[in-house]
Amino acid sequence: MPYRRVEDPAKLRRLLEAVLLLEADLSLPVLLRHFVQEACSMTNARYGALGVLNDDRTGLAEFITVGLNDAEERAIGHRPTGLGVLGLLIVDPKPLRLANIADHPGRAGFPPGHPEMRSFLGVPVAAHDEVYGNLYLTDKVGWSEFTQDDEALVVAFAQAAGIAIENARLHDRVQEVAVLEDRDRIARDLHDAVIQRLFAIGLSLQGIARPPLEGQTLERVQRAIRDLDDTIRQIRSSIFQLSSTSSPGPGLRASVLALVHELRPVVGFDVSVSFEGPVETAVPEPTAEHLVFTIRELLTNVGRHAKASRASVLLRADTATVTLEVVDDGRGIEAASGDRTSGGRLGLANLRRRAERLGGEMVLETPEGGGTSVLWRVPI
Ligand SMILES: Nc1ncnc2c1ncn2[C@@H]1O[C@H](COP(=O)(O)OP(=O)(O)O)[C@@H](O)[C@H]1O
Ligand SMILES: [Mg+2]
Repeated sequence: MPYRRVEDPAKLRRLLEAVLLLEADLSLPVLLRHFVQEACSMTNARYGALGVLNDDRTGLAEFITVGLNDAEERAIGHRPTGLGVLGLLIVDPKPLRLANIADHPGRAGFPPGHPEMRSFLGVPVAAHDEVYGNLYLTDKVGWSEFTQDDEALVVAFAQAAGIAIENARLHDRVQEVAVLEDRDRIARDLHDAVIQRLFAIGLSLQGIARPPLEGQTLERVQRAIRDLDDTIRQIRSSIFQLSSTSSPGPGLRASVLALVHELRPVVGFDVSVSFEGPVETAVPEPTAEHLVFTIRELLTNVGRHAKASRASVLLRADTATVTLEVVDDGRGIEAASGDRTSGGRLGLANLRRRAERLGGEMVLETPEGGGTSVLWRVPI
């Protein structure tokens, strides 16, 4: 295909870093989300989405969006039907760049509540001539439309996504024919049946845990929700033990991405993640565990205290140190700590102690424009 190549060395490196994750043992949605996030971030797109067709190609099996907050996602309410501009990418699979998506004759219209979008760049997601879906970005910030260079980059991400999907489908097929060990079967049953149902019950309880319920009844429902959450967490960790008896854990980058994905409901929006330097090879296992723990605490804090609309995680390694930076644009630690007079506050103290025990440090900062920045750094 007569596509341009990605020329910018910095972008090439980031692209390569992302594509190398195909090797990591990541679940498909986690990997695809990372690809969409990187594609958005590298082209300055405000929104990005990736749709994967189901097997009979009548609808979408996966739909991953980046850039929408929870309220916007809820307002949209349903997945795109594959009509209009998006459908076109599947019927006629080649890149499509538009200055204004509304001008396109094939546009079927946005549902009510959909954020206003103008510039559009869509490319098919395919591997070995099989079209699996599409990847599209909208609203290039500060520009009237996406560039040819953006297109080259997004085509590359879409190809990587195509391979990921193809891998996953092949893997599923192999799993279907393989005789599963009991361990794996139990782990899967627990995950698919039990957790999903507990989750559904928790959700429906959340729906009623508000007025007109009051007093003791409300308290009891809220306690039940917390208990369910705990139960789910316990089952998850048993599943993890069941299914991780032999295989080595995923690498640090894969763990971080999976964690950030898991915490999305806690944080309430997509957190951008980036890695610099030999994160995978230079960080020893115990330190990697501390890092994952630290990210979990810091992002939970962002979700619970910051009232932020954006946050980022940066993990940087050189030969001597590994540095973690978690930044949000929320109301800042000072403002938030005025909220409460008593209670926990063990989270940050614990992180500081961990860093110091490893010969490092933790630094809290309030950046110029507000928000909170936490730097956690230890020698390796
Ligand atoms: N990202 C953040 N934005 C705003 N405030 C924060 C943030 N992280 C922590 N805080 C404030 O610092 C306090 C201490 O956090 P932490 O030690 O984790 O305790 P806890 O989360 O149990 O309250 C929090 O109660 C909150 O007031
Ligand atoms: Mg905390």
